[in-house]
Parts: sequence; structure tokens; C-alpha cells
Amino acid sequence: MSVWERLGFRENLYATPPLPGNEEGSRLLVGRDAEVEELQDHWASYDTHATVEGANGVGKTSLVAVAAYRDMVAREAARKPLIIPIGEIFQLTSEAEGFTSRVYLALARTLLDNQDRLEKAGYIMSDLSGLRQWLDSPTNKTKGASGSVLGFGGGGSYGAASSTSPGFTDNGLIELVNSNLRNMFPSRAAGGFVGILDNMELLSTSKEARRRLEEMRDGVLSIPGIRWVLCGANGIVRSAVGSPRLTGRIADPLRLEPLQRTAVPEVIRRRISEYGNQIGVTPNPPVEPEGFLHLYRVLNNNLRIALKHAGEFTKWYDRNSEGGGSEDRLKLLEVWLTDQADAYAADAGSLTDRTWRVFDELIIFGGSCSPSEFEHFGFSSREAMRPYIKTLEDANLVISAIDEDDSRRRTIEITPNGWLVQYMRSGYKKPTD
Ligand SMILES: Nc1ncnc2c1ncn2[C@@H]1O[C@H](COP(=O)(O)OP(=O)(O)OP(=O)(O)O)[C@@H](O)[C@H]1O
Ligand SMILES: [Mg+2]
Repeated sequence: MSVWERLGFRENLYATPPLPGNEEGSRLLVGRDAEVEELQDHWASYDTHATVEGANGVGKTSLVAVAAYRDMVAREAARKPLIIPIGEIFQLTSEAEGFTSRVYLALARTLLDNQDRLEKAGYIMSDLSGLRQWLDSPTNKTKGASGSVLGFGGGGSYGAASSTSPGFTDNGLIELVNSNLRNMFPSRAAGGFVGILDNMELLSTSKEARRRLEEMRDGVLSIPGIRWVLCGANGIVRSAVGSPRLTGRIADPLRLEPLQRTAVPEVIRRRISEYGNQIGVTPNPPVEPEGFLHLYRVLNNNLRIALKHAGEFTKWYDRNSEGGGSEDRLKLLEVWLTDQADAYAADAGSLTDRTWRVFDELIIFGGSCSPSEFEHFGFSSREAMRPYIKTLEDANLVISAIDEDDSRRRTIEITPNGWLVQYMRSGYKKPTD
């Protein structure tokens, strides 16, 4: 029996993956009405690909997935041209190999999975039975699920998936998907598919991000009827889409702010009612809505990291607690969190006063800065600040990336460990608004 079942839930109450674009994801998404509407308006009104910029763990991927799903449902009910979310989420890596093939495979899947819905809405598609048979053949199913491709990507070879189903060449699949999309979505007004190109900050530098996007400009970014939403953190999106070659193709970013603190307890309330509806079992959440808000504040408004710590507390609670009511649980959580903070501070080792001062000033600065902001920290050059940042990085309190191409990007930031250590340094003072 899982710890969740013991506690009266059918699922991990504090799971950290992004919310999926489906009914459950839609029920669990708290707030964000204005942002959902802004994205949906974008798909309806502009030909550019939308972009979302926001801190790590703030809720970018969940927002886009749910916005696309809700748009699909609303348009279907209103008998309007459809927006359909693409099931798979893509990340841009510097390695472009196989990327286009993976995208087309996902588009083919999305076409097949939504065939009924599309036909009911009056879209005309070519006969997809050969494609269905090929994608559903056992060998291909497993390959598709693991994210790699069979039969194409390797220079367009003919890939007979099995003796009973036809194969598709790289170009054959692309042509079939493109021609269907072109027919169904001749213009923006006819609807389209929405896909997510996620975590652009993984490309590290804006130059690299720009290079990848420029490469894709006439390929993946020009597939008929496909509306991409590019997501990224630390200013990479804004910086990358400034390229002249991308002007008019990619929109300026929607800036996603952290969920308002008053809305945060609701994140857990919804999960409790979603996963705790077992007949005859009283759910017993180790971290309740108020406790979660405490974690969220200490961890600098990072939802993903607050959920992760709630999960870790659960593990501890499951082994160490002897029951008790809500108040006891909140107290236990607070004690556990101070222990965590102490442990992380001990891990950081001993640092000089000057290094701590850089840390403290970075906290006051909001938790992130760019290397060009050295003067705020009392240094005369970037080079003078660099060793202190390096020391903080070695202590896991700060993370930094070097973007020589864009010195304004705030690529130096406090890590989640760092926020916990800050909690200890502040004397476990509850962060205030
Ligand atoms: N509005 C919301 N309501 C409820 N839960 C949310 C909301 N936004 C995000 N979450 C939850 O918070 C966590 C982080 O969300 P998500 O992965 O979408 O953030 P992100 O900004 O894409 O993060 P990353 O920087 O890791 O890519 C997920 O577990 C998700 O379920
Ligand atoms: Mg994300």
C-alpha cells in the first residue's frame, strides 16, 4: 500500500509534474484566469507563436497545457473552429538530431487521437487508417512512447514497422501530416493545434536559443496550423526572440508572476478533494493548505519546490508521527523545516563574512541578479564579484549561468537550498508579504 493510500488518497497529493491538459488538470489549476484568457486571445487573434517567461516552478507549463485544453472544450461546445492541444511537450536541446521527426510523430498521434472530434466539427481529413495501423503496431507503440522514432530520422529510410502494416518514410509522414493540417487549417480563423516548446533556459545562452529558433524558423515553426508556445525562465525568451530573423514570427513574452499568496492554499485544497474522495476514508494530508503556504513563502514562491518539500515531509511524517490533529501537523512541519534549513546550512560549510554579505544582498535584491549588476554588491567589476559567486555556487546556495551574449539577463540566482538557508539566517522568521 502506498503512503498516499494509507493517508486516504488515491494519488500523490504533492506530485510535482506540470498539470496535464485534461479535465483533472483544469480542475487543479488555481487562479490564472487572466493569463488563460490572454493565451486563448493570442491564438484567436495573432499569427505569431506566443511565449511565456517566468521563474522556475511558477506554473508556466501547467498554464499553457490547461489553457489549450479549456479552449478546446469551450470551442467544441460553441461549435467554433477547434484548438487542440498536442499531447507531448517538447524541449529544445542544442542537439537538433531527430527533433523534427519527434514533432511529426506527435502531430500524427494528435491527429489520430482527435479524429472523431475533428470530423464531428466538420474538418475533412484524408484516410488515416494506414497511419493508424502503422503507429499502433506494437513495435512502433513502444518506440513512440519512449520518445524515439522508428524508421525515420535516420536519413529518411523506409521503415516497415511490421510485416502486416505499411511503413512511412520520414518525408512520407511529414507530407501526410502537412497536407492534412494545411487542408484543415488554411488560416488562423480555422483553428489549429497548440504545442509547448518548454524550458528554453536549458539552452543556457540566448545566443544558442536564438540559433535553434532561427534554424527552426522555416521548419517546425512553420508547420501549417501549429501554434507553438515557447516557455522559459531567467529572461531567455525575451532575449532570444529579439533576433531580426524571428521578428513577426514570435510574440513578446507573457510574464507569469508567482501565484498570489491568498490563492496558494487552494492549490492543496483542490488536490485534497480531487484525490481524497475515497468512500469511507477520512483523508489525512500531512501538509494542509496553511502549511503549504508556509512552505511556499519560505521557498520564495516556487510551487514546484514547495510541492517537493511537502512530499519529503510526508515521507518523514509517515515514519515519525503518532497521529494528532491539524495543529500538531502544522507544528511538526515547522519543526521539520527548521531542521532541514539547519542541515542545508551545515552542508554549505563555513563561508567568509564577505561571501555571506553577497548572499544577503542577493536576497535583498530579490534573489537574482545579472553579472553586470556588480556595483550593487560593492564590487568594481564583474571579475571581482565572480569568485564570491563561485564560492556560493560550490555551497549550493546560488546557481549561475554565463551568457556572454546578454549581460542583462539575471543568470545568477538563489537556489531552493539557498532560500532554506536564508530562512535559518533570518532566525526562522516567517516571510511576510
Ligand atoms: N495555477 C496553478 N494551480 C495549481 N497548481 C499549479 C498551478 N501552477 C502550477 N501548479 C503546480 O505547480 C508545479 C509547477 O508547475 P509547472 O511545472 O507548470 O511550472 P513551470 O513554471 O513550468 O516550472 P519549471 O520551471 O520547472 O518548468 C506543478 O506541480 C503544478 O502542478
Ligand atoms: Mg515547465
